[in-house]
Amino acid sequence: MARQDQITPPLAPHSGERQDPRGPEHVAIIMDGNGRWAQMRGRPRLFGHHAGAQRIREVLEACPDLGVKYLTIFAFSTENWKRTQTEVAGLMRLFRHYIQREARELLKSGVRVRFIGDRIKLDDKLVSLMDELELLTSGNDKVHLTIALNYGGRDEVTRAAKRLAYEIEMGRLTHQDVDAETLARFLDTRVLPDPDLVIRTSGEARISNFLLWQSAYAEYEFVDTLWPDFTRAEFARIVASYAARDRRFGAVSA
Ligand code: FPP
Repeated sequence: MARQDQITPPLAPHSGERQDPRGPEHVAIIMDGNGRWAQMRGRPRLFGHHAGAQRIREVLEACPDLGVKYLTIFAFSTENWKRTQTEVAGLMRLFRHYIQREARELLKSGVRVRFIGDRIKLDDKLVSLMDELELLTSGNDKVHLTIALNYGGRDEVTRAAKRLAYEIEMGRLTHQDVDAETLARFLDTRVLPDPDLVIRTSGEARISNFLLWQSAYAEYEFVDTLWPDFTRAEFARIVASYAARDRRFGAVSA
């Protein structure tokens, strides 16, 4: 049976606990601008992706101090396969090396790593490294890092709907059970809280199929900085400014 068709029972959904009610518990980042950063330096796009990979650690390390418990980063979208073969192959190589290089540090610093996205198109070596890293760090709870790899919001909802339909076909659920909460239990993110804040770097103001379902009520911050130039200080400033936002979730202010 193909990997994506294996029906796994939904895990317990996120408990809804909050650390600091004023700060964002879950920050998601669209790390954009690597290509332009490299081109501005007359270097190949992959040079920018390597520089971008090095930025992750600094942002991740800042999370506990800023009260950010969940960090989700967009590493490769379901649409990114349209890039040149050289760039795609280079990115896949970078993901493998990143996992091998960072695994020990992530474990030591209390980071629990998860991957979201469809693994079916990823090569076996990369998938086994992803599985191993998830298992290795599964006892950690200081920061939860989720890496979106071959991820697309529409693709995720489609896969969830397919699995839900399968459960109905098997007689384990009926159409009466289908509501937003049930569907969310079939999403890749089922154990995560929804993002409170989504940051996109590089001056583009679009969401590019990232966490479509989960970001229904997220706050957005679009910054001009190219991802390889993004610093801990800028991250801290954005997180701090979130506290001033008035999130109403469709209701009116108190
Ligand atoms: C978008 O910038 C970035 C990507 C498609 C790849 C993101 C990958 C990384 C930040 C590094 C590796 C990540 C991990 C988890 C090791 P772009 O290339 O579209 O930039 P551009 O808009 O300037 O061309």
